[in-house]
Amino acid sequence: MRRLFSLLAVLAAPLFGTAAGSGTGPAFEETPFGKLPDGTAVTRYTLVNKNGVRVSILSYGGIVASFEAPDRAGKFADIVLGFDDLKGYLDGSPYFGCITGRGANRIAAGKFSLAGKEYTVTGANPHALHGGTKGFDKRLWKAEPAMTANGPSVKLTYTSKDGEEGFPGNLATTVTYTLQSDNGLRIDYLATTDKPTVVNLTNHSYFNLAGHNAGEILGHTLQLVADKYTPGDAAMIPTGKIAPVAGTPFDFTTPTVIGTRLKETGGDPVGYDLNFVHGMKREENAKLVATVTEPKSGRILEVLTTEPGVQLYTGNFLGKEVGKGGAAYKQYHAFCLEAQHFPDSPNQPDFPSVTLKPGEEYRQTTVYRVSAK
Ligand code: GLA
Repeated sequence: MRRLFSLLAVLAAPLFGTAAGSGTGPAFEETPFGKLPDGTAVTRYTLVNKNGVRVSILSYGGIVASFEAPDRAGKFADIVLGFDDLKGYLDGSPYFGCITGRGANRIAAGKFSLAGKEYTVTGANPHALHGGTKGFDKRLWKAEPAMTANGPSVKLTYTSKDGEEGFPGNLATTVTYTLQSDNGLRIDYLATTDKPTVVNLTNHSYFNLAGHNAGEILGHTLQLVADKYTPGDAAMIPTGKIAPVAGTPFDFTTPTVIGTRLKETGGDPVGYDLNFVHGMKREENAKLVATVTEPKSGRILEVLTTEPGVQLYTGNFLGKEVGKGGAAYKQYHAFCLEAQHFPDSPNQPDFPSVTLKPGEEYRQTTVYRVSAK
């Protein structure tokens, strides 16, 4: 009997990689995560650093499916919303943890023009959201795990065909997740095209620093570097103005409890769902743009990015999702900080450009770094 158990244990053991000569140091694990309807296997890669922080990434959608981080007492919790199995993601996910593209956030009526030609992104209702009907969040990515000098990583590649979801050009895309020893999950994006196109990628992780199943995030404190934002209309298409946050409920330039002015934000549903502006161009190196602290656990999330904007979303549309371990995810149970170029950039001449031409490289780096005090 004992032999059977040990045999089963061996069969069930995930593929495992560690840094040379270390048993407890940085590692990655590779485990099956179900099959797509056509039978293609999806894999989960779990990156582990020397502090015991564990982040798992799916080859489907490049989804950050879990992020286990310690509180001030060293107790670990999973701080991102998600599902236990692939079915959860396939049945309808509100973009939990995924790579979002080719056009993150909204493109008005799904239409834009490049070099005098009009293009229509799929699924506009009334506006295109997050890259159309079957965006990068619903694609299977080729995945290559590796131990790198910066930590365990998984490199995801996907070539989006010319015309896919209405976007021109074959877009060769690489997204590399690396779990650094400073507890930063670093995301490096690279894309090239063979025709002029538009590209705006982000990650759509839903965080709750008290734990994915811990309820509302309205008691978290947020500080944003942004002193401006892009006001929008009722359907969240920017007016084109870049307005100061001073004197509005969008002023997070000093640490502020997220729930304090929630009702003043207006909108339907009520809550934050807005692009904040901390720059007008992509930076060479990722800089700190957001800090979130959760008072009870002491967990802190810092967001560093090369991108000029960040979408703050407080899970206003959540409500019907049943996630990991049967957790009921309700409105305001998570927040997203989506580092990006501004919404509807292809139609906004005064916003930093998202056009990518043949011979150019789209590069973006964003780091979600956790600590506790
Ligand atoms: C973004 C959008 C929101 C919502 C979520 C996904 O944050 O700005 O309006 O669509 O994605 O539900």
